Amino acid sequence: MAAETWDPSAQYWKAGGGGTVWDAMAYDPDLNLLYIGVGNGSPWNRHLRSPAGGDNLFLASIVALNPDTGDYVWHYQNTPGDTWDYTSTQHIILADLELDGAVRKVLMQAPKNGFFYVIDRETGEFLSAEPFVEVTWATGYDENGRPIEAEGARAKTGPWETIPSAYGAHNWHPMSYNPETGLVYIPAQGIPLVQTTDPAWELNRHMPGSTMSGVGWNLGYFFNEVAPEATPFGHLLAWDPVAQKEVWRAEYISPWNGGTLTTAGNLVFQGTADGRFIAYNASTGELLWQVPVTSGVVAAPMTWEHDGEQFVTIAVGWGGVYGIMQRATDKVGPGRVFTFKRGGTGEIPMAEMSDRTELVAGVPYDPDHVAEGVGLYVANCLFCHGVPGVNNGGNVPNLGYSTADVLTNMKAWVLDGAAVDRGMPSFADKLTEEDLAKLVAFVQGTVDAVRPQ
Ligand code: HEC
Repeated sequence: MAAETWDPSAQYWKAGGGGTVWDAMAYDPDLNLLYIGVGNGSPWNRHLRSPAGGDNLFLASIVALNPDTGDYVWHYQNTPGDTWDYTSTQHIILADLELDGAVRKVLMQAPKNGFFYVIDRETGEFLSAEPFVEVTWATGYDENGRPIEAEGARAKTGPWETIPSAYGAHNWHPMSYNPETGLVYIPAQGIPLVQTTDPAWELNRHMPGSTMSGVGWNLGYFFNEVAPEATPFGHLLAWDPVAQKEVWRAEYISPWNGGTLTTAGNLVFQGTADGRFIAYNASTGELLWQVPVTSGVVAAPMTWEHDGEQFVTIAVGWGGVYGIMQRATDKVGPGRVFTFKRGGTGEIPMAEMSDRTELVAGVPYDPDHVAEGVGLYVANCLFCHGVPGVNNGGNVPNLGYSTADVLTNMKAWVLDGAAVDRGMPSFADKLTEEDLAKLVAFVQGTVDAVRPQ
C-alpha cells in the first residue's frame, strides 16, 4: 500500500525514506486505538527521494494502529509528498467536540505545515483544516482532506521561500486544550528559510557546500542562498477548533517559546524565549502574572497537587534546533526546575548573563580563502554555530563572538576534539589544517562584513 506511492528509481530504501515518529503518541482506551504522528522524508527533497513524485505514504501522516497487534486501522496524510520537512509528529490531542449539532470523537493536531486539523478519531474521516498562521505552500484543503498546493510550492530547483519553514509553524512545544473555554493554546511561530535544491546531492556524501553533509544530514537542499523575505515571529495563539479561528493572541519578541498548560481555574501558563514565566486568563488572554526565570524556556509546565495545595512546575532551560544557534535573552542559565504556588515566598534566583557580547576582531586571514570557507562552513558547521556575527549563539557558541585566541587555535576544537564530550564533534577524518585556515577566513571575514561601522 505504501510502496505504490513511492518512485523506486531513486532507491529510497537506501536512505530509509524518513518517517520517524519522534514526538508524543496518543492512546484512546475506549476505542483501543493508538495514534502516531509520522515525520518528514529523507532526504527532505522529494525531487531527489522520489523523482516521479507520489504521496510517499506514510510520511507526514497520522496513523491509527491497534496497539495489541500493531495492525494498521486508518491513516490521514496531512502533507502528501512532503518536501518541506513538514513532520506530522506534533502531539495529538483527543477531545469530544460538538460539530454541526453532534458530539464527535475527534483528534486535533497543529503540525509544522501551518494548518490546524480536526479528524474523526474513530474512522480517520477528515473534518476540517484551516491555517493558524500565514501559509504559502497550500491555499486550503478540498472536501476529501487533500491540500490544494500553491503553484511553485515545490519548484524543482529554487531558490524559493516556503511559509511555514522547516522549523514549523508549531513544533514540539506542547499545545493544550481547555474543555471549559473550548480553546487550544498553540505556541505558534515563524522562522523564515529559503530552500534551493542541491543538484549534486548523494546519500551520506560529505561535500563542501552541501548543507551539513559533513555530519551526515541528508537534506538535498541549500538554505538561504538568498535572504528570506518573511520576518520571524512568535506568539501564543488561542484557537477555537470548532469555528477554526483565532480568539486571542499574545505577541512575543521571538519564535521558539515554551509549551502551554491550561487549567480548570481558567489559566494558561507559558514560559517564553525571552526568559519569563507567564499566566494568562484563558478566556481573554489578559496577562495576570509573570516572573523572570534564568533563561529562555522551551519546555511545557505541569500542575500537581500535594496535601490539598496546587503547584505549577516548569523546567527552565534553552535549546532545540532553533535554540542551538539563537537566543532571545542574554540570560544563559543555569537550567533550573521552578515550582510555584499561591502565596509562595521563595526568591527568584539570579540568571547568569552571557559574556559573549564582543564581535571577534583582528584575526589575520587571506581574503581569497573566504569563498571556499563558505562551502566548508555550510557543510560542517552552519546548523550548530549559525552565521558568524549574524546569529547570536544559543546553546552552541556563535564563532563571531569567540575570542581571537579561540579562532587562532581552532585546531584544538575541530581536529583535536577538545570539546567532544560537550557536543563539539571532531572533524579529524574530514578536514585538514588548510581547511581550517579557510574556515577562519570565513568567520573573521563575515564578522568584518557585518560589523556596524
Ligand atoms: C553538532 C554541533 C556542532 C557542529 C556541527 C560543530 N560544532 Fe563547534 N561547537 C559545538 C559545541 C556544543 C561547542 C561548545 C563546546 C563547549 O561547551 O565548550 C563548540 C565549540 C566550538 C569552538 C569553540 C568556541 C568558543 O568560543 O569557545 C570552535 C572554535 C568550534 N566549535 C568550531 C567549529 C567549526 C569550525 C565547525 C565546523 C567545521 C564546528 N565547530 C562544528 C558544536 C558543534
